[in-house]
Amino acid sequence: PHDGTVFSMIQPTGMFHLGNYLGATRVWKQLNDSKGPAQTLVFGVADLHAITVPKPDSAQFRESRLGAVASVLACGVTPDRSILMMQSMIPEHSQLNWLLGTMTSMGYLNRMTQWKSKSQSSGNTDSVKLGLFAYPVLQAADILLYRATHVPVGEDQAQHLELTRYVAHQFNSLYKRDYFPAPQTLLTRSKKVLSLTDPCKKMSKSDGDTMSQIYMNDPPEIIRQKIRKAVTDSITTEFYYDSVGRPGLSNLIDIASGVGDTSVAQVERDIAHLRDYRSLKDYVSDLLIAELTGPRQEYKRLIADRGYLLSVAAEGSRRAREIAHRTLAEVMDLMGF
Ligand code: ADP
Ligand code: NA
Repeated sequence: PHDGTVFSMIQPTGMFHLGNYLGATRVWKQLNDSKGPAQTLVFGVADLHAITVPKPDSAQFRESRLGAVASVLACGVTPDRSILMMQSMIPEHSQLNWLLGTMTSMGYLNRMTQWKSKSQSSGNTDSVKLGLFAYPVLQAADILLYRATHVPVGEDQAQHLELTRYVAHQFNSLYKRDYFPAPQTLLTRSKKVLSLTDPCKKMSKSDGDTMSQIYMNDPPEIIRQKIRKAVTDSITTEFYYDSVGRPGLSNLIDIASGVGDTSVAQVERDIAHLRDYRSLKDYVSDLLIAELTGPRQEYKRLIADRGYLLSVAAEGSRRAREIAHRTLAEVMDLMGF
């Protein structure tokens, strides 16, 4: 475990999928379990970020926000070791966002790729909302508010941490202090999980096709069905890893390797004797079912207890706010407010 503060958030934009699990929440649980005495762990539900994509229905959004708290708990993050917070309950995120926005160049934001891929209008950028364009600034505010030293992220997020380091540097050089540490990326060991129906794309909550994702609360028979329908190829004489030539198969191998926390080479040895996709897919399904049954049952139990979920979010946010309040006060003091 690294001394310092580990910080990470997830958007409440729908039921968590296998990519979120292997790329984020299971890593949080591992960090939670190995927490050292000189470590602070802050994990959050990024609900302010979730409204930069097409607006969710209010009632549904309220459910997703609570569902995200339940999911994080169901994956094994515990409130006694980790601060589990809801971003919108801590107004300091928005306040620091404004201050940092005054130190971030439009040119830098313009070079970030996610706002382009997430905006509907591919050609005309006039209708892109300010919040979507500027959301890396809010992300920087999220991380810097806790003066985080380590940020566990999936490969897809590395670019945003670069912006956070740039903003931290801007502040430190403007106010001649080493106030914000440059946060380091803690890259997840497991590979990016790809869509089951189109293994050229990543598995994503924003994908409307439910067959493309394994959800954290999918029952065993649904997991088996989705894996059976996963796009692969027609070579069944030999199963080997080739992410370019055989992306579907390689995705299944990566999933098995991620779930089992074993190397790709080990998975290749484990599947060497299999002679058809049905057996290979059953092998992957069995691993997934064994891994996800605990979190699924725990989620089911937790989601029925709204009072408990709300109290966890309120208490975690209260603790997070103690840190956030102190940072904002120090930042404003350094700036002359
Ligand atoms: P999504 O892209 O599905 O909406 P988020 O943006 O909320 O998910 O991402 C939450 C976390 O899950 C991030 O740390 C991100 O890196 C990770 N993540 C998202 N999709 C995947 C994936 N397909 N494979 C691995 N990690 C992923
Ligand atoms: Na994402």
